[in-house]
Amino acid sequence: MTATSHDPAPQLVHQASPDADWWRSAVIYQVYPRSFGDADGDGMGDLPGITERLGSLAELGVNAVWLSPFYRSPQRDGGYDVADYRDVDPRFGTLADADALIARAHELGMRVIVDLVPNHTSDQHAWFRQALADGPGSPARARYMFREGNGEYGEEPPNNWQSVFGGNAWTRVCDRPDAAGSSWERDGQWYLHLFDTSQPDLNWDSAEVHAEFRSILRFWLDRGVDGFRVDVAHGLVKAPGLPDWTGQVRMVEGTEVAEGIAADEDTVPLPDADDATDHSPMFDQDGVHEIYREWREVLEEYDADRILVAEAWVEPLERLARYVRPDEMHQAFNFDFLVTRWQAPELRESIIGSYAANDAVGAPTTWVLSNHDVVRHASRLGLAETGKGPNGIGAEDPQPDAELGLRRALAGTLLMLALPGSAYLYQGEELGLPEHTTLDDSLRQDPAWWRTGHAEKGRDGCRVPLPWLSDAPAFGFSPTGKSWLPQPDSWAQLARDVQERDPGSPLNLYRRALELRDQLGLGTGSLETLPLGEHVVAVRNTTQGRPAVIILTNLGTESVPLPDGEVLLASGPLAEEGVPTDTTVWIQGTN
Ligand code: GLC
Repeated sequence: MTATSHDPAPQLVHQASPDADWWRSAVIYQVYPRSFGDADGDGMGDLPGITERLGSLAELGVNAVWLSPFYRSPQRDGGYDVADYRDVDPRFGTLADADALIARAHELGMRVIVDLVPNHTSDQHAWFRQALADGPGSPARARYMFREGNGEYGEEPPNNWQSVFGGNAWTRVCDRPDAAGSSWERDGQWYLHLFDTSQPDLNWDSAEVHAEFRSILRFWLDRGVDGFRVDVAHGLVKAPGLPDWTGQVRMVEGTEVAEGIAADEDTVPLPDADDATDHSPMFDQDGVHEIYREWREVLEEYDADRILVAEAWVEPLERLARYVRPDEMHQAFNFDFLVTRWQAPELRESIIGSYAANDAVGAPTTWVLSNHDVVRHASRLGLAETGKGPNGIGAEDPQPDAELGLRRALAGTLLMLALPGSAYLYQGEELGLPEHTTLDDSLRQDPAWWRTGHAEKGRDGCRVPLPWLSDAPAFGFSPTGKSWLPQPDSWAQLARDVQERDPGSPLNLYRRALELRDQLGLGTGSLETLPLGEHVVAVRNTTQGRPAVIILTNLGTESVPLPDGEVLLASGPLAEEGVPTDTTVWIQGTN
């Protein structure tokens, strides 16, 4: 299978897998617990608020729900700063509420995936507090990445690494308990945090850390969860000696050659962006794979249906595929597809490359366009420059073209949902929700906003609580009308109840797409690319025993002829001449 995007004849780019495991073709819906539904009225979403709304997800037709973290946490990074992996944060409820949620989802025929954050804990975790108290050389410090500083007095950080959220990746602690408030206050060791200061990195050379996470896996597996989405899966192991490095790693898209990072360029060469093996010393080290093999063994002790999903910003796709080798994880998010610009040749290449890399290791390819870390795709695709997009959009930034963005978003979604493999949806995208692009700066909570000195707006704009009812306080998100981030007034028209009544709404398009995907077995098919024009993505999805489906997305400026066959679904109105710009059609082909 060496097809390229310029092949003149249909090319088989993916052969259906003989295995029928649920996760090979599942549609998985991401719930961001802070913003899905609030039952107790404090303005912050919670587990009972999710449980009481799970019926709407079953109705939508998804197979599984992935919950972003709901564990005990000071919420410095939206819960990705975990203080206790075995408890529910009181803001979100109790362990009994988690049990009830899992039970209800199962009753409705949906699986439940929870988030696991193994790269770092919160600085409020008992282990880190003990590490601070016990001091240098203690076993408690050995669970984290503590180092002496450089410079005559240790006043320089141990190396030049930058935090993904901006600023230095090291923070110095006080190792003189009597020195609080004095000039000695920060005279101690430094600890590494690839993210916020409040998120100290764990030391994965420690056997205790390994044992702890195996035990955490079992804790949730015993409670009945069906899998784990593994946060920053490429980050756990760092290169020996923690060498200086002049690159900068960006969330979701991965490595970028940075300018101006303090380093001696004579001794620390700039990373070679074209050399896949020249990646950062803090990410994608070979040692991470040992950890996932260990975890896979834990999962295998349970029934065969539990899964591990990698969140790993790793390039190229062949390197990402190493995370989903048969004895490691089951799936990895396909961020290559998410960051691809709205250009037919690039999308074709991403689709073909994704299958080539994953098929080589027998793993399903996954598809995703939105999540809690990126500008929602209904807005991203309406920007002059498509692709990964900025880290947040503010009122004074160039605003996305909402109509264009939504049209492309629905076209992109229909393309994605027709491709074999597993697809991820982010809460609210089924309503066509745009990013909140005019959020008041004083309300921003993302650490990236602070750590970049406000150069980046951050991710709050994609995390705004969902609108359920057009005519209720906080659009039905909470009974009191409280909402931890304000919802734009224009969302009244986008509320779920309005969309339920409108046959032409994004919600009804998503429902129909998921229903057809299921009936036609699109998630489990084989795929050929069809040479129907430079500016279209055209593929044929064939599942044994069912009629083949042609999927065509037109990214050109002119309409293109409609292929022969019956139109099953279209992301927008069709034109007399055929398929208009930025539109996807599903056609039952004549074979
Ligand atoms: C992952 C999460 C993101 C979080 C980061 C640090 O990328 O998706 O939201 O900020 O990890 O835990």
